[in-house]
Amino acid sequence: MSFLQSIFGLKPASFLGVDIGTSSIKIVEVSKALQKPQLKTYGILETYGHLERLNNAIQTSSLKILENETAELLKTLVAEMKVKTKDVVASLPQFLVFTTLLELPQMTSDDIGKSISFQARQYIPLPISEVSIDWLKVGEREDENGVKKQLVFLIGVPNENIKKYKAIFKSAGLTLRALELETLSLSRSLVGDGNGPVAMVDIGARSTIVSVIHKGLPQHIGQSDFAASSLTQAIANGLNINVRRAETLKKQRGLLGRGGDYELSTLVLPFLDAIIEEIRRGIKAFQEKNPETPVGSVILSGGGANLLGIEKYFSDQLGIPITKGNPFFRVGYPPEIEPLVSELSSTFSVAIGLGIRELV
Ligand SMILES: Nc1ncnc2c1ncn2[C@@H]1O[C@H](COP(=O)(O)OP(=O)(O)OP(=O)(O)O)[C@@H](O)[C@H]1O
Ligand SMILES: [Mg+2]
Repeated sequence: MSFLQSIFGLKPASFLGVDIGTSSIKIVEVSKALQKPQLKTYGILETYGHLERLNNAIQTSSLKILENETAELLKTLVAEMKVKTKDVVASLPQFLVFTTLLELPQMTSDDIGKSISFQARQYIPLPISEVSIDWLKVGEREDENGVKKQLVFLIGVPNENIKKYKAIFKSAGLTLRALELETLSLSRSLVGDGNGPVAMVDIGARSTIVSVIHKGLPQHIGQSDFAASSLTQAIANGLNINVRRAETLKKQRGLLGRGGDYELSTLVLPFLDAIIEEIRRGIKAFQEKNPETPVGSVILSGGGANLLGIEKYFSDQLGIPITKGNPFFRVGYPPEIEPLVSELSSTFSVAIGLGIRELV
């Protein structure tokens, strides 16, 4: 892919998968092994002030990557983890990129390459000279008139954002080898090539990403600003308590409270419903293009997927099976961490997908 740094020369045998989220940085170190890539170590560091920033809606919605702070946090985390490699594969959050599914007439890859930046002008509200353009062929379909079309995901990343990411890793003393969309990392760690179509839902602190994956490729990518921190905010406002207390309550009770706790779920359900609406939109968009291949299940990930009772609520509302993704299935890991796997799964899905990218 054009904007990714290609891995040249000797291919490293270990990588750090680095997921810089709004609320925390997650890192895994993964090494090449005979059967599955081997998870060596993992670490997570909460970003300072994430909950405080929640108090200010304007700041939350315009949250910038805080370059210096992020580089310092990375340095700290990597030192604590005692990692043995500096080679990084990192994800670009969806809110820093433009993605659009295009339907193009049949043409060669060369011709797609030639015409894609012209196409991009229609979809990307920035001068094309300031954006790195990439594309990914994800399928084909016959349109209403029986004409064969190819489905191509257009990916545009503002050069400014790529520059920032490179600077952050450089100042943390790490080597950025590749950048990719979170959705592609998740699809690698949670879905694989054979399965589908499934809806993948990443409920992060700041945003929820809904994608539909079929045969290992994204067919739809949607985003909602309703996410796990919306629930915290709703509880804080509704009960008139501070966000720290609200965060604790949310994690302790989730949707399972009874009696006096009932209020908690009434406060958060409207926000979960908004997330469910985004899932419905994603499934519908896919189904319109692929009426014969129904989306069979929903895979949840992201810290928000740990909300107690979320699977039942979502499956009652959507009427299809809901599971929590398990990225640990893709790697070998030390037996000591087995008891933690279920808890870590949602949080490390993106990081593991990144870590194994060059090893599978
Ligand atoms: N047990 C739990 N119950 C409910 N919510 C939880 C639980 N554990 C974590 N969360 C929520 O998950 C969120 C963090 O998730 P995650 O680490 O996926 O976010 P992020 O990657 O930092 O954010 P984003 O992807 O939006 O940038 C927080 O808002 C936190 O409150
Ligand atoms: Mg995230």
